[in-house]
Amino acid sequence: MPEVIHSPSVTPADNQTSVLEMRSISKAFPGVRALDGVDFEVKRGEVHALVGENGAGKSTLMKILAGAQSADSGEILLDGEAATIDSPQKAMDLGISIIYQEFNLVPYLSAAENIFLGREPRAAIPGFVDFRTMHAQAQSLIDDLGVKLDIRETVNRLSVAQQQMVEIAKATSRQARIIAMDEPSATLTDYELAHLFALIERLKSQGVAIVYISHRLEEIFQIADRVTVFRDGHVVGTRPVGELDRETVIQMMVGREIKQQIPKEAATPGEVVLELKNVSRAGVLNNISFAVRAGEIVGLAGLVGAGRTEVARVIFGADSYDSGEILLDGQPLRVKNPRDAIGAGVGLVTEDRKALGLILGMAVRENITLANLAEVSRLSFINQRKEKQVARQYVDDLAIKTPSVEQQVQNLSGGNQQKVVLAKWLFTQSRVLIFDEPTRGIDVGSKVEIYQLMNRLAANGTAIIMISSELPEVLGMSDRIVVMHEGSVAGELSRSEATQEKIMHLATGGQ
Ligand SMILES: Nc1ncnc2c1ncn2[C@@H]1O[C@H](COP(=O)(O)OP(=O)(O)OP(=O)(O)O)[C@@H](O)[C@H]1O
Ligand SMILES: [Mg+2]
Repeated sequence: MPEVIHSPSVTPADNQTSVLEMRSISKAFPGVRALDGVDFEVKRGEVHALVGENGAGKSTLMKILAGAQSADSGEILLDGEAATIDSPQKAMDLGISIIYQEFNLVPYLSAAENIFLGREPRAAIPGFVDFRTMHAQAQSLIDDLGVKLDIRETVNRLSVAQQQMVEIAKATSRQARIIAMDEPSATLTDYELAHLFALIERLKSQGVAIVYISHRLEEIFQIADRVTVFRDGHVVGTRPVGELDRETVIQMMVGREIKQQIPKEAATPGEVVLELKNVSRAGVLNNISFAVRAGEIVGLAGLVGAGRTEVARVIFGADSYDSGEILLDGQPLRVKNPRDAIGAGVGLVTEDRKALGLILGMAVRENITLANLAEVSRLSFINQRKEKQVARQYVDDLAIKTPSVEQQVQNLSGGNQQKVVLAKWLFTQSRVLIFDEPTRGIDVGSKVEIYQLMNRLAANGTAIIMISSELPEVLGMSDRIVVMHEGSVAGELSRSEATQEKIMHLATGGQ
């Protein structure tokens, strides 16, 4: 064995010291005990994974650490010293940085301005920002993450995955001793993920501690040193990753075994329902052609920025296209906006629940029936009883964790908000449903329920397009896979011929 070489900043002794200790943390919301006496400890230079079902309390614990929420009781120690973290600013001053699950970016500022918000490089003239330096530094941070993105573009014009990258660059570029990453990978494909992991390794070697939250358990085994499992606001256990396997983690998370993780049912596709013929949008989409049949699930694969979401947006009328044709049942689909699309029977389950999917200040009940009020109304009066019934049914079907259907959606955990988006579109009974990252942020148990619902929809003849960054999901659920690369269709694979390697080959521009 060669002698172990220690990087100057980290010695083994350092690695044994806790940079963070959270002791007996409790937090209640009306009707919900989010955290109940939680103990959580992180060592210097450690990647500590935090896993648990939707609503288990992971984000709440991180928000308390980041000063965005206050605990009802408990204490926090940083490097062994008691700390009071009563505001986000205080957390930052103490060297705590966080990547929020629901991003925290200013939509009308550029990517670069967001990354350096509050610490912009100053120009020689007082009061002025040195934009040249800022842009150069921002660009190199983004390049490091291996993503194509114009750092001068305002954030509201970026895709969710690109916003995710901005959020990551912002949090990791601060001098932090602890970085909490709340589902940083939810919208990333393997390619961007590799860059994120390389970045995590670099931070780790500098002695930075990382708390890593993800529902993609395979990531945990790639990157984590230790794993803490939450269930219903309690810690089930903390263990070195080497002592765990996937099944054990799932067992700890949900308290039961989950047998089949992708329960695809064989489909017999019918007539073509939706067809794109040479659809182009300048600079974004290039002669896109493919068709989807009734009862068929077509997976749309590709790297971040390949144009998958853009395809969904033109079909849904959220963006226009310059040339080509979109046909629904053989007739031109003429939609100027999403309202027309919904009227024509086309639904889009967005990846961006904040901007397009939900009205956060409204109740779960209202959100579910929003896109199909006619179904619960008579003579333009909403029948509240019927509305409630429908909402309760979906809350049951999808196991949405909420004290009642009257709860405001913004108070639900990230994964449970995503389930409400799904419920809303399921209730519209659309002919064509486009799912953009349908299981983003959804826990392993609930994923199965969502796949089963997709099977049910397909069996009823719905034509489904599924955009997903998770290859096992694309491979597992699709009848056919369309792979995109830089705004074009790079190839099409049948269910039987598709493999991860073939998809990646096409997605990265291989012939
Ligand atoms: N502001 C709030 N008001 C009311 N309830 C809340 C609020 N914030 C969180 N909760 C509730 O606290 C519980 C824990 O939520 P939290 O967001 O911490 O879960 P999570 O483990 O991060 O889940 P996910 O995997 O879905 O992101 C949930 O039941 C959630 O509905
Ligand atoms: Mg969360």
